[in-house]
Amino acid sequence: MAQDLELPDYAPLLAAYHAAFAVELEGMVRSLPIPEGAQVLEMACGDGAYTPWLARKVGPAGSVVGLDLSPAYLALADRAPRSDGTAESRYVAASIDRLPFADATFDAVWCAQSLFSLPEPVDAVRRMAGVVKPGGLVAVLEDDTLHQVLLPWPIELELAVRVAQWDALRAEVPRPGKFYVGRRLITVFREAGLVGLRIRTFATDRVAPLAPAGREFLAIYLDTLRDQVSSRLDRPMQALLDDLATPGRPAYLLDQTDFAATLIDHVVHGTRPADRSSSIGSSPARSNRPESPSPSRNCDRPPSQE
Ligand SMILES: C[S@@+](CC[C@H](N)C(=O)[O-])C[C@H]1O[C@@H](n2cnc3c(N)ncnc32)[C@H](O)[C@@H]1O
Repeated sequence: MAQDLELPDYAPLLAAYHAAFAVELEGMVRSLPIPEGAQVLEMACGDGAYTPWLARKVGPAGSVVGLDLSPAYLALADRAPRSDGTAESRYVAASIDRLPFADATFDAVWCAQSLFSLPEPVDAVRRMAGVVKPGGLVAVLEDDTLHQVLLPWPIELELAVRVAQWDALRAEVPRPGKFYVGRRLITVFREAGLVGLRIRTFATDRVAPLAPAGREFLAIYLDTLRDQVSSRLDRPMQALLDDLATPGRPAYLLDQTDFAATLIDHVVHGTRPADRSSSIGSSPARSNRPESPSPSRNCDRPPSQE
């Protein structure tokens, strides 16, 4: 199908994000307790931005398999140069619903920013857990769409924009809770049957004068956001947003000498219980859990201590 050969609409924003935060994103991969020599599955690998970082992490004795549903993304990933002295990597076209691997194949599964795209999150994490060995690791990087980028604009604009953005997202999909899955990852992992859960939140600043990659990401982000919310704002807020988010205007945010933005990403990991009788990887019963945030969210504590 022609559409299979097309990248998704969000591809330019995601590519700009990888370029702008490459050092920090590789740092997130490096922070994972994945040993050298590990066999890693990269679930929903997209353009393969994380593949070389995973390959460096596990070294030449390890291996990385990137899996994605999109032939266009896989073609892009496959074209990227491989580095010497790192793990062998290859790409596989498949859906998470029909994984072409036996139960307990990998030492670790990594999945970045894809719980928005994959089917229901608990089901998706359970399927990832099914292909790691007992005691193996599942790690997910996610964010909350409405709270991922903090911008230095007036608070009344921030609130109006985020309400409008939420309205737009709710109109788009039947399951809008996926847009704030970042803050619910501990619950998602626990419901998927993983243990030894850990969460680490990374906050990354970009300040003026912006480097080209950071500027590019923020410019695409502002542009995308303005397209999404403008028609849902009242006139004064629309005018204010236009002034702050339109390149070339005197008030354009990215040209301000005091500009500072913060990006927030959550990384959660857990292990598949050693007990083979656990329900992990078995029939993907859907959770009836409502899409509301967890009442408490603790960093670096197993859920049993919550
Ligand atoms: C937002 S992108 C993230 C890609 C990559 N992990 C990254 O961080 O750049 C979501 C990815 O999920 C993939 N995807 C969507 N549905 C899928 C499925 N059922 N099975 C496997 N991959 C899927 C898309 O093709 C896309 O590459």
